[in-house]
Amino acid sequence: MWKETMKTHILNTDMHKKYPYVERGEGIYLYDEEGKRYIDGAGGTIVVNTGHGIKEIARVLKDQAEKIAFSYRVDFNSRPLEELAAKTCEATGGKMDKAFFVSSGSEATELCVKLARKYHLDNGAPSKYKVFSRWHAYHGITNGALSWSGMYHRRKDYIPYLLDFNHIPPAYCYRCWFEQTPENCNLECAGALEDVIQAEGPETVSAFIAEPISGTSLCAAVPRVDYFERIREICDRYDVLLILDEVMTGFGRTGKFFAFEHFNATPDIMAIGKGVTGGYYAMAGAMISANIADTIADNSGNFGPGHTYAGNPLGCAVGLKNMEYLEKHKLVERCAGMGEYAFKRLEELRKHPTVGDIRGKGLQIGLEFVKNQETKETIDPQLMFSQRLHDEAMSRGLIIQASSGCNRGQSGDMIQLGPPYIITEEQIDDLVSILDNSLSVIEKEVGFT
Ligand SMILES: Cc1ncc(COP(=O)(O)O)c(C=O)c1O
Repeated sequence: MWKETMKTHILNTDMHKKYPYVERGEGIYLYDEEGKRYIDGAGGTIVVNTGHGIKEIARVLKDQAEKIAFSYRVDFNSRPLEELAAKTCEATGGKMDKAFFVSSGSEATELCVKLARKYHLDNGAPSKYKVFSRWHAYHGITNGALSWSGMYHRRKDYIPYLLDFNHIPPAYCYRCWFEQTPENCNLECAGALEDVIQAEGPETVSAFIAEPISGTSLCAAVPRVDYFERIREICDRYDVLLILDEVMTGFGRTGKFFAFEHFNATPDIMAIGKGVTGGYYAMAGAMISANIADTIADNSGNFGPGHTYAGNPLGCAVGLKNMEYLEKHKLVERCAGMGEYAFKRLEELRKHPTVGDIRGKGLQIGLEFVKNQETKETIDPQLMFSQRLHDEAMSRGLIIQASSGCNRGQSGDMIQLGPPYIITEEQIDDLVSILDNSLSVIEKEVGFT
C-alpha cells in the first residue's frame, strides 16, 4: 500500500509539484482525499458534460462489461457500436454518414487525415496527400496530429519528428494577424488557405483541418460567422477536403450539438471525442460524409487502419448512454442557456485591469489577460500569470484550465472554462466569485493593482 511518505512512481506533468488525490465526483464537484471540494470549472479538460457520478451511466459500464467488454472489429460488429454510429451520424443532421470510433482525439484526427487520403486514392488523385492547418490549432499529441497542430510549445521539442505541412494564420479576431477588425476585414485569415494551396500545388493538397471554435491554444476564439463559408468555397475549388475537429466543441459544448451549426459550412470529415462519453470512457471518433463513404465503398471498398480498441462495445455502450442522458435532460439547450448567463456574469470581470477579452460560445469560454487593455500588450511570460491564477483558484476550490502562448507562441495568458452543462446559475455565481477573488490576488502579487 502506497503511503504519503513514499516516492511517487507517477510521471507527473510537473515533476516537482504535489498533486492532491481526487477521490470522487458528484455533479459539477470533485472531492479530494482530504475532503476538499472543487468546482470542476473546466470539465477536466472540457470533457465532462453530463456531470460526475451519474449512476445510470456508470451502471452501463458494469452491465456491458458483464455482457461483452471487448470484441475485435475485424470479426464482429456489436449493437452498441451500430447504435452509436447511427446516433452520432443522426446528430449531424445527416451530414455525416459513417463513423469509426477510437480511444482518443489524437487517434481521431489521425484517422480523419487517413480517410481524406484514402478518398483521394480511390477517387483517382494519388498525388494529393498534404494536410494544411492553422497556427494555434490543436489536433492532438501523436506525431501526425502534432504535425497539423499549430500550438507552438507543444510542438517545439518534437519538431524533428513532425511532418512538414503548411499552417495558415488563425481566425483570431482579438489579436488579428492581419491587423484587421471583424467589421472591416476581408477574411484574409481564410483567404490565406488559397495562397498556400496555390503555392504548394493543388494537386498535392488533400485536406484542411480546423477546430470550428479554437480549443486550448486560443481558448475559445470564435471566427467571423462567414469564415467557414469562405474556407468551404476554397476547399471545393481545389478538391481539398474540409476536416472539422469537433473533439472539444462537439456534443453540445458550444450550445449547439456540433459547433459547425453556428456557421454555414459542412465538413467532409469530422473528428469527435471528449464529450461523446463525457469522461465515463476513453472514446473518440472519425466521421465521413456519404460522398466520401460512397467513393471508398465503390472503389477499394475497404478502410484498413484502426486501433485495437476501435469500436469496442464497452465504450460504445457508454457513449450511447451519455448521448441519451444529454437528450433526456435537454442538456444541450441547458448549456446554451447557462452559457448566456455565464457570459453575462463574467462581463463583470472587465473591471480587472488584466482582462482583455472574454470569448466563446455556450459553455466553452475563454478569457485572455493583458498588461494593457488598450494596446493588448501581453503579460511578461516569466510571471506565469495564467498558471498562478489556476493555482490560486484551485486553492479556493475552483478548477480552471490555464493556457499561454496566444501571441504567436511567444507570450499571452489565457484561461478556459467548460463546466458540466448541469451547472446552475447559483453555481456560476460561485465560480465567477472565486475567479474574481483569485484574479484580485494574482494582480496584486504581480503588481498590476
Ligand atoms: C480540438 C482537439 N482535437 C484533438 C484533441 C486531442 O484529443 P486527445 O487528447 O483525446 O488525444 C484535443 C484535446 O484537447 C482537442 O481539443
